[in-house]
Amino acid sequence: MDKKINSIKDKKIKGKFIPPPDKSISHRSIIFSAIGNGNSHIYNLLTAKDCKKTIDAFRQLGIKIKWDKNKHIVEGKGLDGLTKTTDIIDCGNSGTTIRLMTGLLAGQNNEYILDGDSSLRKRPMNRIISPLRKMGANIQGKNKDQYCPLQIFPSQLSGIKYKLPVASAQVKSSILLANLYTNQETVIKEPKPSRNHTEILMEYLGFNLNVKDNKISFKSKQNFKIPNSQYRIPGDFSQAAYFITAALLVPGSELFIKNVNLNPTRIGFLKVVEQMGGNIKIVNKSLQQGELQGDLLVKYSSLKGIKVNEDLIPQMIDEIPLIALLGIKAEGITEINSAEELRVKESDRIAVLRKAFNKLNLEISTFQDGFSVYGPQEIKNKAYLDPHLDHRMAMLFTLLALISKNGAVLKDSQCINNSFPTYFEKLNEVIL
Ligand code: S3P
Repeated sequence: MDKKINSIKDKKIKGKFIPPPDKSISHRSIIFSAIGNGNSHIYNLLTAKDCKKTIDAFRQLGIKIKWDKNKHIVEGKGLDGLTKTTDIIDCGNSGTTIRLMTGLLAGQNNEYILDGDSSLRKRPMNRIISPLRKMGANIQGKNKDQYCPLQIFPSQLSGIKYKLPVASAQVKSSILLANLYTNQETVIKEPKPSRNHTEILMEYLGFNLNVKDNKISFKSKQNFKIPNSQYRIPGDFSQAAYFITAALLVPGSELFIKNVNLNPTRIGFLKVVEQMGGNIKIVNKSLQQGELQGDLLVKYSSLKGIKVNEDLIPQMIDEIPLIALLGIKAEGITEINSAEELRVKESDRIAVLRKAFNKLNLEISTFQDGFSVYGPQEIKNKAYLDPHLDHRMAMLFTLLALISKNGAVLKDSQCINNSFPTYFEKLNEVIL
């Protein structure tokens, strides 16, 4: 669906924004509730399309999940309680669903097929097939195991020592879930720390994980039963990042962002923005179920361009395209390297960004693993922007249009429903 987006003109970003529930933690709470024993309660669960795919997958596997007044109730059936299904498990657009579910289902005694939409079918699956096979899993993927659909056959798994070729929380989590079906130790080494929500949740549920120097060692306790639990999902920092960007770029803005997850492995974007001169204050920090959270106060700032520290890339992987947007309004050059992972997200985010910038007559240099932009540049011409059905690119293009002189038309705006169905509504609430 095409959507016309007007320039913000003389308005400002003001007031309060409460981000939607965190997507990564939502997926994981559903998974651990389903393999827990008894009823778990999930408060503030994200029910956008991506998480719906995880919910529907478990329903297909015999798990009852229902909404009750103010929470979701998941009737967990334990590690071995998932039923078989001959129907394909459709993971839609969700990389987290397919990669985590594959690890979990590799240890079951049934056959399964997992598939997704045309975007998911282009995303690399060999990165999970390879370590899971080393654990003894019997999985086959399309085109020499590169892509889904994935077919999983029953097998006996064992622990592994595995060095991740790229920092990826999805791959790490897939291996950790598969290891629940071994009585052995698995050791995972990451090149750089990626988001650690799975590890935090597992520790919260009573597992012992040893994490040191980017190395995670984990052995399931014999006969350990995952308890039922109460999960409270904090606000999603990645979604808050669009609102932070808007407030930083629109003169006179001041925005209060409430109850956002501030897990140190997620807030690389905040560190980069601070180095660029962004005025953001963290207030009211607290720890809930092992996850740091708090409120943010963001004010319009004049920014300067920087070369982004490569160590921060995994900690801001979903927010990196927003750095290009900040870069065109910052003084000097802003450069991103070591972010080749952007090429295999819901779209090739470097290519899609470049196309949109070209259409808007904005200068950008792109590399295989990043980009560089200079600023300040004005966005003068009105363009038709195609996010290639990628929710995060669509949210970014909306901001491009808002801060432009003449607005833009966004193609397929409905793809934002994958992660943030109320995006336009919430944005309109703070444009005053
Ligand atoms: C996610 C991990 C990241 C991120 C994705 C969500 C997760 O992917 O880009 O949006 O929930 O584990 P990778 O593991 O591929 O880096």
